[in-house]
This record gives sequence, C-alpha cells and structure tokens, in this order.
Amino acid sequence: MTNLSATLQALAARLPAARSVLVLTGAGISAESGLPTFRDAMSGMWSRFRPEDLATPEAFRHQPELVWRWYRWRRQLAAQAQPNPGHRALARLQPLLREVLIVTQNVDGLHQRAGSRDVLELHGSLLRDRCSGSGCTWVMACRDVPEPPICPVCGEKMRPAVIWFGEPLPEDALLRANEFAGQCDLCFSIGTSSQVYPAAEIAMIAARAGADIVEINPSATPLTPYAEFVINGPSGEMLPDLLRHHERITQSGVTL
Ligand code: OAD
Repeated sequence: MTNLSATLQALAARLPAARSVLVLTGAGISAESGLPTFRDAMSGMWSRFRPEDLATPEAFRHQPELVWRWYRWRRQLAAQAQPNPGHRALARLQPLLREVLIVTQNVDGLHQRAGSRDVLELHGSLLRDRCSGSGCTWVMACRDVPEPPICPVCGEKMRPAVIWFGEPLPEDALLRANEFAGQCDLCFSIGTSSQVYPAAEIAMIAARAGADIVEINPSATPLTPYAEFVINGPSGEMLPDLLRHHERITQSGVTL
C-alpha cells in the first residue's frame, strides 16, 4: 500500500468518530473543473493579471469597464464549468458525517451546484451584483451585459458581489466560520494556498483549538506542518477515493 493510500484509509477510519467537521476550500478544488487558480506559477490568474488592476475598489473606481469585463469573463467560465468529482464527492460525504460546515473562498457556486448545502461564501459570489454606491445595499442576480448596469435604487454602477483586496469580509460569515473552527474536531483545508487572510486563519484557529487538520493539495502550504493528514494530490481524485474508503468502512461496520 502506498503512503497516500494508507493516509486516506486512516482518515476514512477517523471520519465516523468526527463530531464536527469544518471544510475550508479554495481555488484548487475547482481547478479540475477548468477554472484557473490564482497563485499556481504557470496557470494562476495572478501570473497573468495584476490583482491591483482588477480586484480592488480603486481599480473599479478608475476603470469600471475593465474590471467589469474581467469579471464577466470569469462568470462565463464559471457558468460553463461543471462541478468535478471532488465537489461531488464532498457533497455526497456531507450527509454521512455528523455536523459539517463548508467555508469556501471560491466565488464560482460549484459546491452548491454539486449539491452541497450550508456553504459559507467568504469572498462573495460571482452570481450576484451589488451596488457600488456608498450606503446603498441593493443586490441582484448578475447580468451578462458588456458594461456595469446602473443601480435601480441610487443610480450608481453595479459591481460583482465579491470581496476585493482591501475590503472586509462579511462579518456574520467570518464570525460563524471562526466560531465553528474553534469547536470542530476535524478541519479539512482543500485546494487553498493558505496565504490569504483572514480565510487562512480559520484553519489555524481549528488547529490551535485541537482539531485534527487534513490538507488536500498537490503542493505544500504554510498549513502543512500543522496537518495530521497530508494528502498530496488533486482533490478531484483524492475526495472520491476518501468517499470510497469511507463507504467501505461504514458498510463493513468497521469503525475506530
Ligand atoms: P490559490 O491560487 O492561492 O491556491 C490554490 C491552491 O490550490 C494551491 O495551493 C495549489 O497547489 C492548489 N491546487 C491546484 N490544483 C489543485 C487540485 N487539483 N486539487 C487540490 N488543490 C489544488 O487560491 P486560494 O487559496 O483559493 O481572493 O486563494 C485565496 C484567495 O486569493 C482567493 O479567494 C482570491 C485570491 O486572490 C480574492 O480575489 C479576494
């Protein structure tokens, strides 16, 4: 048996005893759906584009059409993409465990399309627009139009309802994620470089509170030294394998 397969089996054996499971995901879980990650050296978004030109409130103020076009392109990619076996395995695993919260940094909606419920979107969603006017809270389903639509309430430009660099995360979502992290006993970190805060802090809160950390990622990250289970591989293969091991264990009645 390879090390990887032994780790997956040990993790599958740990799952039935898990009381509360936090799953933190990032761009890597959608990579096998054809959506680019951000920091991968060759294919990552930030190797081709500068985040300060496209993903900040200042960029939208100075060049709203450019920012809008970039997000329109990303929306079209996300709409054409399908949930991959990793998203689907996670959605199938969710009801088999006691208490699960999925916290995603992704804005692509693929967890929900795969059938996952209770998904906390820390960085917002590509599928919605919100008004860019200060004090206006108008939100609506995104529209596939070439320029930012005008807010029907205040007349300012609409913008994608995602979190940009320099903006605070939704307070209620972050609070819920942090509270859950502080009391879970198993925490998965899947497809994230664990470099962007405050999202990266969530797994660290779980680690400090004594949860077992599981990392699923083909590459090491700053979280790796804290992980009990390091699963070095693509989530589109590792999560279906984990689900198969889990089903085998629960069907044979073997639990630890
Ligand atoms: P990153 O691009 O920083 O990291 C993606 C991670 O996924 C890397 O560690 C890869 O090794 C890993 N990865 C690649 N392919 C994978 C696969 N098939 N299976 C599992 N893992 C794989 O993306 P995030 O960590 O999500 O924020 O980035 C966090 C935030 O930074 C994003 O939400 C975005 C970005 O800038 C904003 O735009 C505000």
